[in-house]
Amino acid sequence: MYDSGKIIVGLIIFLALVTFPFYNNIGKVNAKPELKIDTPEIQKLPEQERKCVETKEFMRGGHMQLLNDWRDSVVRNGNRVYTNSAHKTFNMSLQNECMRCHSNKKDFCDKCHNYMAVVPYCWDCHIAPKEKKL
Ligand code: HEC
Ligand code: HEC
Ligand code: HEC
Repeated sequence: MYDSGKIIVGLIIFLALVTFPFYNNIGKVNAKPELKIDTPEIQKLPEQERKCVETKEFMRGGHMQLLNDWRDSVVRNGNRVYTNSAHKTFNMSLQNECMRCHSNKKDFCDKCHNYMAVVPYCWDCHIAPKEKKL
């Protein structure tokens, strides 16, 4: 007679062994890129003020819209001053404001865009920052 209990245990062990390389990789293959925010300009900020224009969560999903709004405001209305939800003001400029802090375009913007397969065409006209070494 077969000992079904042993067969099942054996099967479980077998499956665990053959699938190990697969599930051991889950999360690694699709690991999110590590974004660097250690630029000279960001390091200069006091620790509690190392923040973006808006909250990180907002920026993550909303930076494209924010940039569109900034452009419209500057180009259509000539208004270059943005006041954020914490009443701090920013110069509405891709080159002079976003890239002042995120001067490491390659390790920040590009890293995430490459991962998400997005290619913003802004740099056809706007000047990308020169990498500054710490
Ligand atoms: C004053 C410096 C500063 C400016 C100006 C700035 N950022 Fe940031 N940004 C930061 C910091 C610091 C963080 C990390 C925030 C955190 O961890 O809470 C960040 C986070 C982000 C994130 C989220 C990253 C993530 O981990 O998901 C995006 C996207 C982003 N910034 C885009 C922009 C864009 C686009 C602009 C211009 C509209 C901009 N930033 C302007 C300092 C800045
Ligand atoms: C955390 C990931 C992440 C970071 C960091 C990030 N982006 Fe993005 N960005 C995206 C995603 C995702 C999209 C596409 C969103 C969509 O299609 O709705 C996008 C789209 C954009 C667009 C619109 C492009 C288009 O053709 O519609 C612009 C402009 C842009 N990003 C600028 C920046 C700049 C400048 C920085 C660095 C300061 C930056 N992003 C950093 C994830 C990121
Ligand atoms: C065909 C060229 C061109 C392209 C492509 C382009 N821009 Fe611009 N952009 C301009 C010009 C010209 C101005 C006006 C400059 C001024 O008045 O300071 C401007 C102004 C802006 C401004 C406000 C002023 C400043 O200094 O940044 C923002 C923000 C902006 N663009 C964002 C973007 C974003 C985001 C993209 C990509 C999704 C983009 N632009 C693509 C030409 C372009």
